[in-house]
Amino acid sequence: MKVLGIVAGRHNGNSEILVKEALLACQAAGAECKLINLFDYNIEHCIGCECCTMAMGDVGMGKLDKYPGCVLKDKDDMEKIIKEMQTCNAIIVGVPVYDLAPSSLYLKFAQRFLAYELSFLLEIGEVKVDPHMVAGLIAVGGSCHDWMPFGLEVMAASMFTQSVQVVDQMLAQRNGRPGNVLLRDEQLERAKLMGENIIKAIQTPVEERGYLGEADFGMCPSCHSHLIYKGDPHWDGIQFPFECAVCGCGGDLVKDENGEYKFVLAENGHIRDRNINQARAEHLNEIVQTKIDFFKRQHTIQDKYAKYKEIKFPAI
Ligand SMILES: Cc1cc2nc3c(=O)[nH]c(=O)nc-3n(C[C@H](O)[C@H](O)[C@H](O)COP(=O)(O)O)c2cc1C
Repeated sequence: MKVLGIVAGRHNGNSEILVKEALLACQAAGAECKLINLFDYNIEHCIGCECCTMAMGDVGMGKLDKYPGCVLKDKDDMEKIIKEMQTCNAIIVGVPVYDLAPSSLYLKFAQRFLAYELSFLLEIGEVKVDPHMVAGLIAVGGSCHDWMPFGLEVMAASMFTQSVQVVDQMLAQRNGRPGNVLLRDEQLERAKLMGENIIKAIQTPVEERGYLGEADFGMCPSCHSHLIYKGDPHWDGIQFPFECAVCGCGGDLVKDENGEYKFVLAENGHIRDRNINQARAEHLNEIVQTKIDFFKRQHTIQDKYAKYKEIKFPAI
């Protein structure tokens, strides 16, 4: 059992303490544990060149023999981290919430995952063994849930390209200064339980793994996110009354016998579930259709482009 702790908070900060507490439980169960703090690594931000996805498409269509990888691979530490991560059975991620959402350091890291999409690397044999990774996510904030509404949700959204199954999540609230969490024994206990849950998940056959956090955590019965919004038509006309902002499951809000709102999945509620490979493949179809339209209508784009390329406003 290999477990990697990933921290995006301050050295000796609250995120690091909670991840260490979870890792100690994994270690006690016999796992080999490593811990990285992203502040110690050089990580470039994704430049949006799309070279990775274009090359993946070309390899898929047989137009290109070898996947060249991320254009930034020799410029920073990302490849080293991802290569290690993709050999692990589990990751435990601790991230501070800044402005309601995960800190930019974490986002910079996670938004480089696309060039290392696990299912693609497995398909082309670059990664030999599917690690069937599971994750425990810890979002840490100085405030209560009302000031951390996108913390866990955005962290969970970053797991899809690495095919990571989130089996446990924790919101560590009211932790401001470094070490504040040491006043919160219940949070330290919860982090320990996360470590135990991670071990339980690793030791469960892949097909039988499920969510091990509190059953009533969040609104979505599938991924346990709190963010459910009123659905709009998708690119192909599919629409649900309400959708989960994280996994994309569709359903409706229904009041139960206690007058509490529940998000109840539709019969076909999983057709856009981003945790299901087939549903993600359908999204790829959407991207391909958008691209086909883009290339078909090049003359229109070029005609309109000139105006915007010529306009210059002063920078600062
Ligand atoms: C720029 C900045 C923005 C922050 N915004 C929020 C916020 O929106 N909500 C919140 O609950 N805490 C917020 N915090 C507090 C941190 O989440 C908190 O101090 C946390 O314990 C930091 O984690 P660390 O000790 O692992 O670095 C913010 C802190 C900073 C520096």
